[in-house]
Amino acid sequence: MTAAKLSCAAVGAIAASLALARFHPFGDPQRYLQQSRATLLQTAAMPDSSLRTLVAKCADCHSNATRWPIYSDAAPISWMIERDVIEGRKHLNLSHWNELSADRQQVLEQEIVHQIRKGIMPPVSYRLVHWQAHLRPSDRDALMKLVPSEIAQATAAQPGDADRGRALFNRRCTGCHALDSDREGPHLRGVYLRRAGSVAGFGYSSAIRNSGVTWTEANLNRWLTDTDSMVPGSAMGFVVPKPQERSDLIAFLRSLQ
Ligand code: HEC
Ligand code: HEC
Repeated sequence: MTAAKLSCAAVGAIAASLALARFHPFGDPQRYLQQSRATLLQTAAMPDSSLRTLVAKCADCHSNATRWPIYSDAAPISWMIERDVIEGRKHLNLSHWNELSADRQQVLEQEIVHQIRKGIMPPVSYRLVHWQAHLRPSDRDALMKLVPSEIAQATAAQPGDADRGRALFNRRCTGCHALDSDREGPHLRGVYLRRAGSVAGFGYSSAIRNSGVTWTEANLNRWLTDTDSMVPGSAMGFVVPKPQERSDLIAFLRSLQ
């Protein structure tokens, strides 16, 4: 091949790549609807440092304020990046934070802390291409503040109330659990005194399946206080910091026949 032919081929490849980047096999992230970063999470009720870290480290995939790197204009890299952004926004979109109920915000805050503890977010593929994402220890600390750390060891002031527990269950748990069908979490009717990880056909973590735990009142209380330290490697990214609320929830779970 002559030099002229080679450079012709190169120009052709670049043109093809730019043209292909106009297609969106994983969905169109609507780059033209770009939101400004300055307005993101502005009125959210969370510690300042958590807010700044979320905007700096997570907003590229988890908001409509994505900063598209220059190489995201070329296929097939553009497609990989678009897929991450579309999937990321589906799970957590900081641009819509203020429209969420306080309970939903609490669930998401706990999922964020769970992801950070396990070190899965941001995804490795993204860190590899160095798109601003490395989390320093100070970033981790800032994100951990989203969930109060003095998770009360104290016991409830009053005995658990199943009616209050039902209302809490509907608000906090039904994002992942139903009573009679398996969803992101296993069904919970009959969980009281059930062996942990024993619902046939549900895809538990091996940590919980091999935990040897039975769901007594005390164990449910420990689980809802801090799943990660009770069963390290388990997959439920949610806890209930207030002892009275745990107690009410457990009363409700016990009352189910
Ligand atoms: C490269 C884009 C990208 C970045 C940057 C990123 N995420 Fe994600 N995130 C994703 C994708 C994609 C998913 C969907 C789940 C999956 O595929 O693993 C997700 C899912 C999540 C979820 C939901 C998990 C679940 O099980 O529902 C949380 C919480 C989360 N990310 C938090 C964060 C936080 C906090 C940061 C910043 C420190 C962050 N992410 C940075 C792409 C990203
Ligand atoms: C973000 C999703 C999510 C939320 C919210 C959630 N759970 Fe879970 N839960 C899970 C997952 C996933 C598992 C399975 C854990 C594993 O496999 O390690 C689980 C497991 C459990 C188990 C053990 C069940 C068994 O069969 O061993 C109990 C009990 C439980 N959840 C109670 C609750 C209660 C009560 C709430 C509300 C206060 C709640 N969960 C909120 C996802 C969730």
